[in-house]
Amino acid sequence: MTEMTETKSPMWNRLVAEPPFRILYRALLKRLPVSIETRALWELSPRPAYLLGVWNAARLARQQRVERIAAIEFGVAGGAGLVALEREAAAVERATGVEIRVFGFDSGEGLPSFIGDYRDHPDLWQPGDFRMDPDALRSRLSARTTLILGDVADTAAGFVERYDPPPIGFAAFDLDLYSATKAALGVFRGGARRMLRQVPLYFDDIDFIHNHRFAGELLAIDEFNATSEVVKIDRWHGVSVDRPFPERSFLTKLYVAHDLEAISRSRLARENVALPLARE
Ligand SMILES: C[S@@+](CC[C@H](N)C(=O)[O-])C[C@H]1O[C@@H](n2cnc3c(N)ncnc32)[C@H](O)[C@@H]1O
Repeated sequence: MTEMTETKSPMWNRLVAEPPFRILYRALLKRLPVSIETRALWELSPRPAYLLGVWNAARLARQQRVERIAAIEFGVAGGAGLVALEREAAAVERATGVEIRVFGFDSGEGLPSFIGDYRDHPDLWQPGDFRMDPDALRSRLSARTTLILGDVADTAAGFVERYDPPPIGFAAFDLDLYSATKAALGVFRGGARRMLRQVPLYFDDIDFIHNHRFAGELLAIDEFNATSEVVKIDRWHGVSVDRPFPERSFLTKLYVAHDLEAISRSRLARENVALPLARE
């Protein structure tokens, strides 16, 4: 059977996205060999945020004429997310031709000691939560993926020098702690950073009732923006527009890191565009 895509008529797309058709249509798509674009739109993935992020990263890479990118999960635990990221990276690579390397950062020993106040949310987590079995996880990963064990404060700092990665195209942050997230965001700092001009990001821990701008991942983002001149992180504006399930919470956890310095340097080399009047 040939792949189905969502490149049907706009009317068809609008109709199938209406409740209750969207639920029935999604159930149908689950049984069909659909394109990666359709999977990203209809959340046909165990980690729809990862698929959407990596798919858009590959599209951005093609626009920016970048042949290889990195997809990262910060905070791996047992590895369910990293295994899903690796699978989606392989699928996106097949569909787009953009080569994708995957990196997973984790202590390997669960959550480390906390900084000692509300900012690491000792009301939610405790040191030692989410231990990993590194051998079991490695046996499930292919050569595409590198597991980087150690405190992210050390491993993120030496990432480029040690692993010579391609530009970061997508990163998921699931380290739970303010302190660890702050350290991981260091990959977007400094002249040695390697990233696309826009990098889709996913922050897992920002939508509990406990979350606020003065602790956790949200504080790490705010502090990053306050102290980084050349890269800024903002919500992924418009990501839920024209999606069949725009109310899904993962969409509110998607951000984009913008490399303002690289954007300032970029110049388009194409014909001027025009917006002529339509004929009467
Ligand atoms: C919630 S778990 C990750 C879950 C995983 N992303 C998934 O979807 O299955 C959080 C992980 O962050 C890791 N972590 C937290 N702080 C860290 C630090 N400073 N350095 C390295 N890893 C850290 C912990 O070891 C833990 O495995």
